Parts: sequence; structure tokens; C-alpha cells
Amino acid sequence: MPVAIITGASKGLGRALAEALAERGWNLVLDARTPEVLEGTAAALASYGTRVTALPGDVTDAGHRAELVAAAWRLGGVDLLVSNASALGAEPLVRLAELPLDGLRRALEVNTVAALGLVQEALPLLRSAAAGAVITVSSDAAAEAYETWGGYGASKAALDQVAAVLAAEEPGLRVWAVDPGDMATDLYAAAVPDDDDPRPDPADVVPALLRLLDERPASGRYAAPALLEGRR
Ligand SMILES: NC(=O)c1ccc[n+]([C@@H]2O[C@H](COP(=O)([O-])OP(=O)(O)OC[C@H]3O[C@@H](n4cnc5c(N)ncnc54)[C@H](OP(=O)(O)O)[C@@H]3O)[C@@H](O)[C@H]2O)c1
Repeated sequence: MPVAIITGASKGLGRALAEALAERGWNLVLDARTPEVLEGTAAALASYGTRVTALPGDVTDAGHRAELVAAAWRLGGVDLLVSNASALGAEPLVRLAELPLDGLRRALEVNTVAALGLVQEALPLLRSAAAGAVITVSSDAAAEAYETWGGYGASKAALDQVAAVLAAEEPGLRVWAVDPGDMATDLYAAAVPDDDDPRPDPADVVPALLRLLDERPASGRYAAPALLEGRR
């Protein structure tokens, strides 16, 4: 059975993807910082009968990243690495004039540096997989200049460029940067607490990610709405 590492998998998009992969028979290594929430997710996944290793920790911790990859190795390797855990840099978001520089550093550390660190740790196993793939979860804030989204968007733009260059350097892998579009999650509520417009459930975005796995298009940057459109 294939093995995936998904960061930030206790809730939101990461959890929804973990459920979909478990339903397809994937073995999983999952993380998040809050142990009780992560344990609840792992317990819910048990009904699918696949092997799930849930390791609480922070993706910025190099030792934790090594544990995630070691756990995947014990399950058989790394077929898919999903860098999904994310930091906003300020909650709620603020304009650049007020953005604490430590907040920007935290966003870069979680969203970009840790994602590359995990790729580096997992590369030997990804290269030896039959069809190794990396998904980096991006945002339209990486490409559009939305007021207050500057620090977070800069970190996601940096992540996009890491993914693009990784794809060029590792032609044997698929590397997909995916903009999932807005979703009704805790992250969005923390970013913009006063915005209560209805947004898609993260489970509605998962078919876009599954399409990448099923069809294995060329490495590159993809937007979930376009992937979902093509699937209809
Ligand atoms: N929601 C949107 O509208 C939207 C739009 C565009 C892009 N995205 C992107 O979609 C991805 C998923 O976000 P979401 O909306 O599903 O968020 P979410 O529901 O808030 O889930 C975030 C997950 O990441 C974990 N996490 C956060 N920081 C972590 C860290 N340092 N180390 C390990 N785990 C960490 C959280 O658990 P703990 O807090 O317990 O660690 C949680 O499991 C992110 O990359 C986000 O930037 C979201």
C-alpha cells in the first residue's frame, strides 16, 4: 500500500485529505501540534483499516521532521509528501505596516523553511518510490496582492518557488503546488474573524488533490477550482 506524510492533518484540509487517502487504502503518517485533536483524527481514521501513525509535533522542529520520515519508512517508504501545515504570521491578519517581523519570520519558518526541510529529509525515500510525489499547499495570496495577506502571501510565494525549482531539479518526481481556494476552516476564521461569508468545506476541495494523484499531470502550480472543473 502507498504511504503518505501529511502535515497539519488534525483538521481542515489535511484531515479531509487523510480521510480520502485512508478510504483508498493508503497508509499515513500525520502530524499537528495539538496532541488530543490529532489523536481524535487518528481514531476516526481507524475504521478504514489502514495503518496510521500520528505524531504530535511542530514542523519547524528538525527532530520531529526526522521522526515523521522514519515513521513513514517503517510503513514502507514515502510515496507522497503533503506540506499542508501553515502559519499566518498574525491572527487576525494585519497590514504590512503593522505586521510584527517575528510573525513574518514564523510564517516563513513554518510555510517555507519547514516544508523544504521535510522534503530534504524525505527525498531519498521519495526518489526510490515507484511514483514519488510532493504536494505543497499554496494560496491565491501567493500570487495576488490582497491587503493584510502580505506576510503569509510572501511565505506562500516562496514556497511556490521552492516547489517549482524542486520540480526542475527532481524530474523523476511530481511536484505540485496547489492553491486550494478559500475554505471554511479554523485558519480562515483566525485570519479574518469578521468575515462570515459561506466558504467551501475542505472535503469539497479534496477531489482536486485526488485528481492530481490519479492523472499525474506535469509538475507545476494548480488551482483547485480548475482541477474540480475538469473532474465534473
Ligand atoms: N482555509 C483557507 O481558506 C485556505 C485558503 C488558501 C490556502 N489554505 C492553505 O490550506 C492549508 C490547510 O489549511 P486549513 O485551512 O485546512 O487550516 P486548519 O483547518 O487551521 O488546519 C491547519 C492544520 O495544521 C496544523 N498546524 C498548524 N501549524 C502547525 C505546525 N507548525 N506544525 C504542525 N502542524 C501545524 C494544525 O494543527 P495544530 O494547530 O494543532 O498544530 C491543523 O492540523 C494551509 O497550507 C493553508 O495555508 C487555506
